[in-house]
Order: sequence, then structure tokens, then C-alpha cells
Amino acid sequence: MDNRRIAIFDSGLGGLTVAKYLVEKMPNEKIIYFGDTARTPYGSKDVETIRKFTIQICDFLVANDIKMLVIACNTISATCKDILKERYPDLPIIDVISPMAERVANDFADDSIGVIATKVTVGSGAYEKQINDLSPDTKVNSMACPLFVPMIEEGVRDNKILNPTIKFYLDNFLWDNKVDSLILGCTHYPIIESNIRQLYPSLKVLNPSKETVKKIRSYLEEHDMKAARPPYENMYFASDMSDSFINMIENIDPSSRARFKKFSGTV
Ligand code: DGL
Repeated sequence: MDNRRIAIFDSGLGGLTVAKYLVEKMPNEKIIYFGDTARTPYGSKDVETIRKFTIQICDFLVANDIKMLVIACNTISATCKDILKERYPDLPIIDVISPMAERVANDFADDSIGVIATKVTVGSGAYEKQINDLSPDTKVNSMACPLFVPMIEEGVRDNKILNPTIKFYLDNFLWDNKVDSLILGCTHYPIIESNIRQLYPSLKVLNPSKETVKKIRSYLEEHDMKAARPPYENMYFASDMSDSFINMIENIDPSSRARFKKFSGTV
């Protein structure tokens, strides 16, 4: 048993899709979340910049007596996992790409897989590499959709804007690659998942946030590290407290026992 917090972080509010599943599936766990809303999006930035920002965030989280670090961002998972493992060798670190790659290799290996993600994640080839390491014959194609994250962070939910943007990116990509299963390779995208499902009803849509939470659970169970002590108080930090961020937190933690605040440290 381990009652310390699980730290979850992202460039913005996307990682809250992972936090939401975790709070639903493992309500005894206490979390601390950080969203770098002041500097999002990361997905079009230089890798060195992403690494610098990531280390600043993780040093802050690690100083908060945590038992696990969850990289709830595909862009950071694709570019920083190794440096984080080196920097915090004693801390379990879970990313969002490898649990999804394992699931695909186990259950969707014969499908034509599409991945939509940020420019940096697509450029890293992380999904192709990790899926093909486990399942060399699985066909994987990726495409960057750089407009999605700014729209989601801005709180754009109007279908008249969202649906044409989704179709702009996906119509040709899905058709040209005969995609059977589409991975939402950015933790912001589950927020527009229902639009994607409505527009392409026969498509299988795979959400890495769910696979990540299964991985967190199995790790904690295997290492006897589950928490067993409600009541808890989750903590949410952001570098800029936007309305979209606050709305999502209220949706995750309606009990409002959650505390959220603007982080005013060195990040
Ligand atoms: N949520 C992040 C991801 O999963 C990226 C968003 C961004 O571009 O900052 O890739």
C-alpha cells in the first residue's frame, strides 16, 4: 500500500483525459496534475525546448512526494521518456505510447492502423517504431493535425467549425491508407472523439488514455502500491488558469474537493 500521489502532466489540458479515467477507475488514488497551459502547444516546438519545459515541470512534481510519474502527453512521451528515466531512476514512469502499442500488437495487429498526432510525435516515428518492434507486419501510417490542439485549448466545441476541420485532415488520410483503426495519438483528441466517431461510424477509434490507466493499475497492483485511504484531495496546477481548464477539472472532480491553482514558481 502506498498513499502518496500519482503525478500526471501534459503541455495543457489534454492530460486531463488520462486523469479523468484514473479518477473514475481508481478513486482511491490521489493525484497531482500539472498542465503547462501558458506554453501550450508543445507539438510544434523544438525538441530541446520541450525537454527544457518538461524537466522544469517534473522537478516541481517530484518535489511533491509522489509515487509515480505519468507522462500524459504523446509529444513528451515521444521525446523525453528516456531523459526522465535517467533523471529520476527510482521513480516508476508511465508514458502514453507504449501501452497503446502493446494493445495494438495484441488485438489489432492485422488492421491498417492510422495515427493522428502532433507534428513532433509524427516526426519522431514513435508509434510506428513501438508497434512494429512488437508486430513487424502491422501497417501504421501517421498524420499531424496541428490545428486540433489550439482549438481544443480555446474551448472550441462548435460542430460547424470542428467537423470541417476534422474532415479536412481525415477524409483523404483514412481513405488513402484504408485505415481500419485510428489511434488518437494526442491526449487532447479524446475531447473531440465523439465528433470523429459520428463522422466515420465504421472506424475503430483507439484511445491511449484508457490503455495508460490500465497500465497504471497493473503496475500499482503488481508492486503493492495502490492507495487505500480516502478521503483524498486532488491537486491541479496550471501555468495559466484558463476557463477550459477549470471546466474540465470541475467535470472530473465535481465533489470540488479538488484544489486547483495557478502555478507561480519557476515554470
Ligand atoms: N497533449 C499533447 C500530446 O498528447 C500535445 C499537445 C501539444 O501540442 O502541446 O501530444
